[in-house]
Amino acid sequence: MIPPDPERSPRRAARAEAERLATAAHAITLPVEPATRRRLRAESEARPARTQVGIRGLLAVRGGTLAMRRRRAGVLAVALLVVATGAVAIGAAASAGGGEEAARTATVDTAPAFQGPPAVPAEGLPVPQLAAVPATATPCDDPAFTAALASGDDEAAISAAGGGDAFRAAVASGIAPCVSLSDPNREWVVVNKQRPLDPLDYRAGDLVMPQNVRALEESALRSAPASALTELVRAASDAGAGEIGFLSAFRSYSTQQSTYAGRVDVGGVEEADRESARAGYSEHQTGLAVDIVPCDGSCGTLDDIASSPQGAWVRDHAWEYGFITRYAEGRESVSGYLPEAWHQRYIGRELARAYHEGGYTTLEEFFGLPAAPTY
Ligand code: DAL
Ligand code: ZN
Repeated sequence: MIPPDPERSPRRAARAEAERLATAAHAITLPVEPATRRRLRAESEARPARTQVGIRGLLAVRGGTLAMRRRRAGVLAVALLVVATGAVAIGAAASAGGGEEAARTATVDTAPAFQGPPAVPAEGLPVPQLAAVPATATPCDDPAFTAALASGDDEAAISAAGGGDAFRAAVASGIAPCVSLSDPNREWVVVNKQRPLDPLDYRAGDLVMPQNVRALEESALRSAPASALTELVRAASDAGAGEIGFLSAFRSYSTQQSTYAGRVDVGGVEEADRESARAGYSEHQTGLAVDIVPCDGSCGTLDDIASSPQGAWVRDHAWEYGFITRYAEGRESVSGYLPEAWHQRYIGRELARAYHEGGYTTLEEFFGLPAAPTY
């Protein structure tokens, strides 16, 4: 008896038959004996449709194998080149800009539109040409800007940066490491529950009493906000909005300790933390914040400002004098405090303009900082 041929296993035999049929179907135009062609067609028609689809699929996979493999290899190589080129361009943009926004800007604004994979020339693959990605300009490389910073002239620095919004964008995108939002001597300092003053008992240097403004307490401001408040109060009066006075402006570390402790005594720590900053965490310690009240003969309370004509005028015009309402309605989850229509924070005219025109309601969002709802 003839032993079974190990090379002719049932699986192998079936595959050989399928290949034979496939080749035959694919090569209808090939010279095939008429009798064989008839038999092939009969066999094919006798098979269920699913098998025919299988044969066609087999044809698609196996027919012209060498040419298709070559084509697939070419397409894969081009795809890899396109991906690698894109990755290198994005990496270059990110390191040139130094920040996420810079990388996004460089990619979106300067990279050429994708034109599809490059045509493959007859001889070999194309050498990728990297598009030049211009470095994002930072004000920290501008001598006019750094000189203004070094001299402590905040207004001149903002002007050298290209104005309030250009300054803001540079800081928020992380391309201006020479600007510190923690420096309490700067008009752009950001103090909140996550950003204590440094040092904690910082005391503003150039404190003066605002001229021609009714002060209900002997409480000063830094000279720039003091002059700005004088102008604001005069403008509000000239516009017929009435008189604006103020209660508290600069508060020292120890004054803030007593202010906060008083709130805790009344409502407990949780309530106090929604209304009053702990010592070392208050804008009042910077000499850049002032609590205003409406006056009409006598003066009202802090709570009266929101619904007064003075309050309405301040909402519309305070930015023109460099002030913002630091703790706005509905922003406690970011600013950390309940709304305070009375608490006006000086950030300078150019930044206040950018804040107003940009529709910002927290200083944290203005400078792209994390929210600070809690300590
Ligand atoms: N009332 C504000 C949050 C402060 O105490 O500084
Ligand atoms: Zn205040």
